[in-house]
Amino acid sequence: MRAIVTGASSGIGRAVALAFAREGAAVVLNFRSGQEEAERMAEQIRAEGGRAVPVQADVAEPRGCATLYDAVEQHFGGVDILVANAGVQRDAAFADMTLDEWRTVIEVNLTGVFLCAQAAVRRFRAQGPRPGSRALGKIIFMSSVHQAIPWAGHVNYAASKGGLKLLMESMAQELAPERIRVNAIAPGAIRTDINREAWETEAAAAKLLQLIPYGRIGEPEDVARAALWLACDESDYVVGTTLFVDGGMLLYPAFREGG
Ligand code: BGC
Repeated sequence: MRAIVTGASSGIGRAVALAFAREGAAVVLNFRSGQEEAERMAEQIRAEGGRAVPVQADVAEPRGCATLYDAVEQHFGGVDILVANAGVQRDAAFADMTLDEWRTVIEVNLTGVFLCAQAAVRRFRAQGPRPGSRALGKIIFMSSVHQAIPWAGHVNYAASKGGLKLLMESMAQELAPERIRVNAIAPGAIRTDINREAWETEAAAAKLLQLIPYGRIGEPEDVARAALWLACDESDYVVGTTLFVDGGMLLYPAFREGG
């Protein structure tokens, strides 16, 4: 199993890459700015007997995505799994949001996923079937509960994830006949840097917990375990699905006592 994980130097991407490597996958650890962390991760993986190479690339650029596939070819001879995880937030009230804030989020979260997924499909076709995997290739998008839950103050982010949902489903519909499996994971509030403000203080965490029926903030490893499952033959019949890993955030917890 050979995988590319975008945005692998921190948060959910980091946990996914480590989990894949521990399961024996050879992993390209993509980062944009977290070079030190990605290099440290690669060393750690190698020390544990695994295979990993850190590769710097901006996934929002076609050239950046191409770099990842050149690296995976060169180091591991091909690719079986893409985890399109890299994502950013640039939050602002709607009327104050700059075009730059809008564009950055759409370019990384949506265009970047499109570019990397397109390159993956082309590689899967060129490689042909591989013994040991029922699918020709697997693509996992890192979406968000905000592909379904509207989010005031974050319209760029919610729009990018809403777009990602139909990108994933349309791709899955188009590519399933070739046995390319495309699915998404929609994490809720996972303890990473992207939402540090929402859990760092006790007051913030208490407020956040009101939105999570299961009563705890998620950890990156919660998401990594779901990614592992979606990446292997155990989930071979799962096609075009979004797996919510959110402690029940999607269940309208405010309605427990209202309505
Ligand atoms: C966002 C986080 C947020 C979570 C739940 C994620 O997609 O990146 O900032 O805490 O959704 O609202």
